[in-house]
Amino acid sequence: MSNFSTMRQMTGYFAPTRFEADIIDCEVTGEVPAELDGVFYRLHHDWFFPPLFPDDTHLSADGYISALRFRDGSVDYRGRYVKTDRYERQRTARRSLYGYYRNPYSDDPSVRDLERPGRRTTANTTPVVICGRLFATKEEGLPYEIDPNTLETIGATDFGGRWKSETFTAHPKRDPDTGETLAFGYEATGITSRDVYVYTFDRAGQITREVRCKAPYTTMLHDMSITANYIIIPGGGCVTDLKRLERHKPHWGWDSEKPSFFLVVPRHGDGADHRVFFGPERSIVHTLNAHEKGSQIVLDLPAASGNTWPFFDDVHGSPFVMHENTIRRVRMDMGSANNGIEEDELFSLPVTSFTRVDERFFTKPNRYTFVQFADRQQPFDAALPDDPRAQPNNSYGRFDLTTRTMKSYFAGPTHVLQEPVFVPRSRGASEGDGYLLGTVHNLGAMRTEIVILDTKTMQALAHVVLPFRNAPQIHGIWADATELPLQ
Ligand SMILES: [Fe+2]
Repeated sequence: MSNFSTMRQMTGYFAPTRFEADIIDCEVTGEVPAELDGVFYRLHHDWFFPPLFPDDTHLSADGYISALRFRDGSVDYRGRYVKTDRYERQRTARRSLYGYYRNPYSDDPSVRDLERPGRRTTANTTPVVICGRLFATKEEGLPYEIDPNTLETIGATDFGGRWKSETFTAHPKRDPDTGETLAFGYEATGITSRDVYVYTFDRAGQITREVRCKAPYTTMLHDMSITANYIIIPGGGCVTDLKRLERHKPHWGWDSEKPSFFLVVPRHGDGADHRVFFGPERSIVHTLNAHEKGSQIVLDLPAASGNTWPFFDDVHGSPFVMHENTIRRVRMDMGSANNGIEEDELFSLPVTSFTRVDERFFTKPNRYTFVQFADRQQPFDAALPDDPRAQPNNSYGRFDLTTRTMKSYFAGPTHVLQEPVFVPRSRGASEGDGYLLGTVHNLGAMRTEIVILDTKTMQALAHVVLPFRNAPQIHGIWADATELPLQ
């Protein structure tokens, strides 16, 4: 019998949903632009069974993928659990079998596999398209391929044996000029290992290059950025070791004495000449974009000056204090032997770490980023989960990195927004000209909506209304018929 009542974060709107669904021709208010022809894929975390340990993080919840198929101004919805090895084993057992976040030592003996921790993956983080194939990814294991139309799970893949890392990032990047996809895996040779394997997929989806390197210390390496000549992988603060895992603690603790770092791997050559730049204590989860300016690498990203993870304990015993993300610019000079960085804060307004850009401008200087944030000047009249990370993220901002100005959209007094995705208005549209699609949790109406904004005005054009709650999403992407064989 499933009982979620001991989980303080999973009540009310944020309780697990535990069902799959299809809706033909969703309810819409306003007018959906007819030129939106593609799919808004989202990955959610939605516990099917109560976790083995009630204090485990939602990062351990089952992956659930949803698709909103936009065509001729109408929208169809489909939602399915990602049928991972973990999901299937638990369905057979009719209960959770896996323990704390990325800690196989805490698993039920019937599934414990210390040699292959990647088998525990819930594939709950980012939908990813690589050369006509859709994957559900999470950085703790291999990606699961998903049928882009039915959302049925095809299975985990190591790309024909050519992907040697035991893990695969949830944030690969596609170079808009070369068509290559760059990706990496960390803890590549086993749990807590410092090994980072970096791969290049050509535009046909074949792995053409592998570079093996080591992180200065084992930490969360969640995202990456690319320039024409470099791959930049930032990280810092999170620490792990086998002793803490054997004590059944979550994978990460937080060490405020550890520096942040930026692993820089050249995209060409033999890869032996990778470098590491160091900065002060930082929580870095996502990136915006990067480009080169002379010998400098310029990386824009949201970052916080301390821990942002309440469920990752401070290894020095300090109580948790939530640090806010702000949009910053980091410079590293490849022409200098100095391994330090320069950092500037571009905006002082706290935002979430879910910054998005017009991805046609990856590797180039870009002007705009879009992100949800809490506008505390606006009213908020809803109950948030009992979690220090829960914020009334009621607004989407269009941040202009050139003029350092911001234009925002306020969703409503009972509304919490999730990561948006940018869709260009047309193939030749200028940077940032198009639509912003985002998930709205309407806590008042107890239903999920998708809002479509015009990025010129940051005004809503339409809402797609689902007659139920979707579980919280982590990431979403837009894919059109040029990228996937859509029906
Ligand atoms: Fe992410």
